Amino acid sequence: MKIVISGKGGVGKTTISGTLARLFAERGYSVIAVDADPSMNLHSAIGVENPTPISQLKELINERAVIAPGMYNLNPRVDDIPERFSAVRDGIRLLVMGTVEEAGQGCLCPENTFLKAILRHLVLKRRELLILDTEAGVEHLGRSVAENFDLMLVVVEPGAKAITMANRLAKLSREIGVRQVYAVANKVASEEQKDFIKQELDIEVLEAIPYDKAVVEADIKNIPLIDIKTESPALKKIVQLSEKIEELAGR
Ligand SMILES: Nc1ncnc2c1ncn2[C@@H]1O[C@H](COP(=O)(O)OP(=O)(O)O)[C@@H](O)[C@H]1O
Ligand SMILES: [Mg+2]
Repeated sequence: MKIVISGKGGVGKTTISGTLARLFAERGYSVIAVDADPSMNLHSAIGVENPTPISQLKELINERAVIAPGMYNLNPRVDDIPERFSAVRDGIRLLVMGTVEEAGQGCLCPENTFLKAILRHLVLKRRELLILDTEAGVEHLGRSVAENFDLMLVVVEPGAKAITMANRLAKLSREIGVRQVYAVANKVASEEQKDFIKQELDIEVLEAIPYDKAVVEADIKNIPLIDIKTESPALKKIVQLSEKIEELAGR
């Protein structure tokens, strides 16, 4: 199953992506976690060092994805990339995209071509899972890296901006052929906030995760949420979320 995690900046995408990766790995899945955010911090939510970002492989990309100046091979060879340029930790392989320069809308930079090819090339078997953590907003959808993914989770926090963004993302995800889209409410501090989110969203909320000091504590200590020793209500809900995702995958 290929899952993309999207939403406004700061809503909790990376925390949730990294925690889901760890939870699925614990359950025996082979997880490929892909960090498509130029700030490259998914590794800390998983608890692994960053590998070389793909975008830094300029020579290799030019060799394989550029035919002539301005002419790109849309099907470059990428089969060796996940193995060669990823960080590994029990059951998880982390791939980091790095900074891809955007030259205006619909840019077909070789890095983008390359990145899309990698995601397309990863054909997953049973009990394999791809989790794509994205940059805030809709830019990654402009590049449509998540084309034909099975599931988009749009993370939303209580607030008008996050909700507007979430509704936009849900619409876009359908346009690029993502098969299922659900919202995940995060940093929810009351029933009223949860109701507010449910009311304003055009899509179903798969799980509501509470605002939780333990998440902040993990962030301060720079350790993955799943490794925090204190009781974490947010972690409990992310576990429930992972079970619901498994149900969706089984359908
Ligand atoms: N449920 C939560 N309760 C409290 N703080 C949270 C929660 N989820 C995320 N945060 C905090 O919000 C900030 C942004 O989270 P992050 O996962 O980096 O978001 P994004 O990847 O969407 O930008 C971090 O400081 C994180 O610790
Ligand atoms: Mg992030």
